[in-house]
Amino acid sequence: MLEFLRGEFMAEACKRASDHQLASAIGSPVVVVTGGSRGIGLALARGFAARGHNQFLIARDSARLRAAAGNIQSDFGVVVRFAAHDLALPEATAEIVATLAAEQCHADILVNCAGIGIYDDFIVIDKEQAHRVLAVNIAAATNLMHAWLPGMLQRRRGGVLNVASLAGLTPMPYLALYAASKSYLIALTRAGSTETSGSGVTVSVVLPGPVNTDFLSNSSGASVRRAALLPGLSAETVARTAIEGFLAGQTVITPGLVGTLCRLALKLTPYWLLAPVIKRAAKGAFFGSAPKAPTETVQVATCAANVSPGTNYAVAGVAQG
Ligand SMILES: NC(=O)c1ccc[n+]([C@@H]2O[C@H](COP(=O)([O-])OP(=O)(O)OC[C@H]3O[C@@H](n4cnc5c(N)ncnc54)[C@H](OP(=O)(O)O)[C@@H]3O)[C@@H](O)[C@H]2O)c1
Repeated sequence: MLEFLRGEFMAEACKRASDHQLASAIGSPVVVVTGGSRGIGLALARGFAARGHNQFLIARDSARLRAAAGNIQSDFGVVVRFAAHDLALPEATAEIVATLAAEQCHADILVNCAGIGIYDDFIVIDKEQAHRVLAVNIAAATNLMHAWLPGMLQRRRGGVLNVASLAGLTPMPYLALYAASKSYLIALTRAGSTETSGSGVTVSVVLPGPVNTDFLSNSSGASVRRAALLPGLSAETVARTAIEGFLAGQTVITPGLVGTLCRLALKLTPYWLLAPVIKRAAKGAFFGSAPKAPTETVQVATCAANVSPGTNYAVAGVAQG
């Protein structure tokens, strides 16, 4: 029954999406931005829109997506579509690919930006939440790359811009799962970039340090104090550097001087030397003093705060300019 209703909803949404405003963009390439409703993803969407690219935004909250799409459309005069999906659900990426195909547009550039943080002693993190981190940060990003890279290679243009983190450059105690998920994205990007070199397709990854967004408060686990390890950059600065690097064909992009120095230091320093320093700094930043005892209940601050049970996230639409 739920599947049937979802199908009906999608059909209606697709019908709405083919109004005359869209007609001019049918068959047109789009930049797909996961996590495009706020934070770094929104800044990236706005940055690509400023360069004249039509957009397709993905996140869970459809009201926020609609608002973001409307603003981008009116500010830059590009067509902005959106679809609300929870990327942690196994069927989400196939539905997104089907929606784009149904709307007869294709992903010219894929920006894998949606991501979830999880901060805690590894042995106490909530299993369900750990699964969501792996599903969003790794599986969804991989599936979308896998779905759309072949078309990009055929057209010999476009590419993938993955959003990882400086945290992906080293094992991170108390941020273990998140950092490992970002390491995966960096490795996948590097390999993908090598495989596609000379094809006209770019595969890049951007490694921000702390960025001034709501990411930490949307992440789960320890009662995170603002990580004061590095000064925070603005989402716009990160997006500008990322887009310029991507368009220049750079594989690994590090925004900011401090970020660049950090990357160099992480590359040159063996982990056995780094580990105690990172451990102490992470303890201070995420716990204040000592991490939780394994027996305590895990506090899930929850990035799923706006997920109400039974909500159907397969909502699609187009911003009305
Ligand atoms: N902020 C930082 O300090 C920082 C540093 C390094 C790297 N990064 C990386 O940058 C990326 C973006 O972070 P941000 O700071 O912009 O975070 P943010 O402000 O919390 O935004 C996250 C975006 O992802 C979407 N999202 C979250 N969970 C989702 C799900 N399950 N399915 C679909 N969409 C989902 C959110 O929309 P909904 O909530 O509506 O779904 C939102 O659009 C992440 O990959 C993060 O790891 C951030």
